[in-house]
Amino acid sequence: HRKYQPVEPVTGFTRTWPDRQVTEAPIWASVDLRDGNQALLEPMNVAQKQRLWHLLVKLGIKEIEVGFPSASQPDYDFTRWLIEENQIPDDVSIQVLVQAREELIAKTFESLKGVKKAVVHVYNSTSRIQRERVFGMGRDEIKDIAVRGARWVKEYAEKYPETDWTFQYSPESFTSTEVDYAVEVCDAVMDVWQPTPEKRCILNLPTTVEVGPPNHFADQVEYFCQHLNRRDSAIISVHTHNDRGGAVASAELALMAGADRVEGTLLGNGERTGNMDIVTLAINLYSQGVDPQLDLSNPDEIIQTCTECTGLPIHPRHPWIGELVYTAFSGSHQDAIRKSLKQQQSDEPWQVAYLPIDPTDLGRDYLAVIRVNSQSGKGGMTFLLERDFGISIPRWLQLELAPIVQQKSEQQGGELDSQIIHDLLIQHFVQDK
Ligand code: KIV
Ligand code: ZN
Repeated sequence: HRKYQPVEPVTGFTRTWPDRQVTEAPIWASVDLRDGNQALLEPMNVAQKQRLWHLLVKLGIKEIEVGFPSASQPDYDFTRWLIEENQIPDDVSIQVLVQAREELIAKTFESLKGVKKAVVHVYNSTSRIQRERVFGMGRDEIKDIAVRGARWVKEYAEKYPETDWTFQYSPESFTSTEVDYAVEVCDAVMDVWQPTPEKRCILNLPTTVEVGPPNHFADQVEYFCQHLNRRDSAIISVHTHNDRGGAVASAELALMAGADRVEGTLLGNGERTGNMDIVTLAINLYSQGVDPQLDLSNPDEIIQTCTECTGLPIHPRHPWIGELVYTAFSGSHQDAIRKSLKQQQSDEPWQVAYLPIDPTDLGRDYLAVIRVNSQSGKGGMTFLLERDFGISIPRWLQLELAPIVQQKSEQQGGELDSQIIHDLLIQHFVQDK
């Protein structure tokens, strides 16, 4: 076995995040058109980008990273299309990514000429591995890269005073950066930008690679928030990836730990295992009684647009919105759902076993909830007979019909619809006159 090291615990602060709850929606920022797009085997064409853009706006996302215009001509052209064709609603900011290099920063500002407001997002890698193994530089040299980048961003922004600029900095590979050093670098960047509580900058903390458990990331975020010199002049953002399968958990815990803003993508497309899935996190919050401030009432439109734009399928068991999520085949689950649905009052809090939210809130209906196959028991078939034929059968008959239904399903293989169950009932228990 190769030797791997666990992440070092974060110490030297009072941890409070486990006692907190998320009580309001974060600022959502989509990176579908940048991180998502850069991870595709075949990047999106102009029409696909335009279609995804319209969906992101329609869902109510107000900050949208549209690309890396200094590094990619299609991203440059797309940025120009948005501006020149007046595609950006007044309450939406476009965001563009750039490395901390002057010629790239110059080109980035050129791509943004004429925009009403925008977020310029500059980054450099700060982790020990990147410092030592990739750049061969010490802490001060890496900090200087960030500071120089911040200066150029400020200087170029001053050349275009008609635009309302927001500056964003990411210490890339934050999760593998010593957290006190990440604070030092970000303090230095803020010294350049001089943000105020009225005009905050964004400090974006990425799990560029998710190397530790979500609680460790939450500790890093809380430590960072507590030690930053001017916390009140920064919007703390997180940008989580899913290498260990914890992107959503990391982002949710980071919000408890003090983050204000979350970057992610619809359905979790993005580098390697993907970015944090905005849809999942938003519905997680919704299921806790928090209004996510996004319109998720039509998940099928999200699925269709994303799959057609990215070419990536969505798993039928994708959290909250997968095709099979509100389907129960198991007999005991069906029985519990049937009983609790019967008792659910429309004006009381949702209390249905095995259904953490009401599927109709997501434009789904109960029709798909209970389905019958050879694993189903009497609960499922009883529910279907009641729902589709208004037939309520007594318990003795449920016990006798269930093995007949099960045998039919085993013979036929797969699912039985309510018509077949009804026919079996008639065939076996209703005598011809
Ligand atoms: O994952 C990452 O670190 C990024 C940065 C550029 C924010 O995508
Ligand atoms: Zn990323």
